[in-house]
Amino acid sequence: MELDKPSLNLTRNDGTYMLTRPVFFVGFMGSGKTSLARRLARSYGVASVDADTYLERREGRKIKEIFASDGEEAFRDVETAVLRELATGDPHLISCGGGVIGREENREILKQQGYVVYLEVTADEAAARIRSTSTRPLFQNMEQARLLNEKRKPLYEEVADVHVQARDKSVSALAHEVASLLIEEGVLCQRPR
Ligand code: S3P
Repeated sequence: MELDKPSLNLTRNDGTYMLTRPVFFVGFMGSGKTSLARRLARSYGVASVDADTYLERREGRKIKEIFASDGEEAFRDVETAVLRELATGDPHLISCGGGVIGREENREILKQQGYVVYLEVTADEAAARIRSTSTRPLFQNMEQARLLNEKRKPLYEEVADVHVQARDKSVSALAHEVASLLIEEGVLCQRPR
């Protein structure tokens, strides 16, 4: 498995910080989960992994190919297997696919194994952030995206330890806000000397 490697030139990235639990970032496609996890990983010198990238490497296929040849349920089966793998072992900052909260089994893993950060955006804001929807089989038109986001909101809420409004916030501002929360909760903390 290749994890996102933290860069070594940021002031707090000196190995003094660690995670006490996995941190899962959930939210709709385009909510900024991956950028936020990467930024925090770089700033604090902890490991991050994007669950979808990990899944594609594990399967040797792109998500859109899995959807096209085997269908959504087959993709969801692999997504659950990946979630189980990432939830155990050394804690990481884990950006999850937007639909991970669909299965009850996944929601239980998220709630039991980690600290869950829900990044809320509207489907319209998400569309503005996404460069290309061609890699996202479930973001094909605005009507579908709005309905899906509304349907999922209670499920994101159900798993969330903390609910963060991503609207109009830069990655830096979000990283600052979320890092403070993680430190306050004891999820991100200084290594004992
Ligand atoms: C999906 C979101 C995608 C990816 C897949 C399905 C969804 O991840 O897992 O295309 O159901 O919302 P991102 O949220 O990282 O785009």
